[in-house]
Amino acid sequence: MHLHKIEEITILPGNNRNGDTENFNKITIKPGDTISVVGPTGSGKSALINDIEIFAKKDTNTKRTVLVNGDYPPEDFIRDPSKKPVALITQNTKCLADLSVENFLEMHVRSRKITDEKIIQETITLANEFTGEKIKPHVRMTSLSGGQTRSLMVADAIMISNAPIILLDEVENAGIFKEKVIECLKKHNKALIFVTHDPLVSLMSGRRIVMKNGAVEKILEPGEEEKEALSDIIQMDAALCSMRERIRAGEIIRSISLT
Ligand SMILES: Nc1ncnc2c1ncn2[C@@H]1O[C@H](COP(=O)(O)OP(=O)(O)OP(=O)(O)O)[C@@H](O)[C@H]1O
Ligand SMILES: [Mg+2]
Repeated sequence: MHLHKIEEITILPGNNRNGDTENFNKITIKPGDTISVVGPTGSGKSALINDIEIFAKKDTNTKRTVLVNGDYPPEDFIRDPSKKPVALITQNTKCLADLSVENFLEMHVRSRKITDEKIIQETITLANEFTGEKIKPHVRMTSLSGGQTRSLMVADAIMISNAPIILLDEVENAGIFKEKVIECLKKHNKALIFVTHDPLVSLMSGRRIVMKNGAVEKILEPGEEEKEALSDIIQMDAALCSMRERIRAGEIIRSISLT
């Protein structure tokens, strides 16, 4: 198997919380796919993301199996962080390293044996496309805001980890420009699987996995059907964003414009 080339990953069904088998044959994910995971609190969204992250082999609560190119991935693929094809960005991304942003990225670049030092600045520049508050290279990792940290982690996953599969667990509430992130990941041909309740990002994804009681309940592929709703919601979102900016800037909001 050519490990550096991921053609697809496959999720095979496990059980819901009562031990009943999930209602699908398999879910296949290819580079460039965007898949959102939706469902109520406690329905198993994070568990699904976790199964993908660790390439579950019926060894998790859910008893799912996750294959790479139709096969079990080898151990070092999972254990060696420099070979790991999956980057997980969670709600609680905590950077414990007491390093500057620049040094943190330098360390990562070195561990990945990348020789082009320009990549550090490029990563920061990319991260700054995802967040309103610009990240400065000399600032300590521990003093970044939540939104800045997540933006940096996404940029790092794209530029330095070069992971073909990116998993995002509810980043949208955290001061990052989610549509930009999605567009950028698509452009880089990453497979993106993300937990969300945000209407805009849900509608931007190609497929929606609906979770219930610990299991995949159904997989929606609305495509054309939701096209109009998507264009409406893009407008609404733009209006909300500009309002948010005005509120941030300390303005009084007397009307909203939906144009
Ligand atoms: N199929 C399953 N069988 C047994 N336990 C499960 C299953 N799926 C999820 N769980 C467990 O149920 C709990 C809640 O699941 P999870 O954290 O994935 O929910 P969630 O949808 O991410 O919720 P939230 O929206 O609050 O983040 C976890 O402890 C998880 O391990
Ligand atoms: Mg969760």
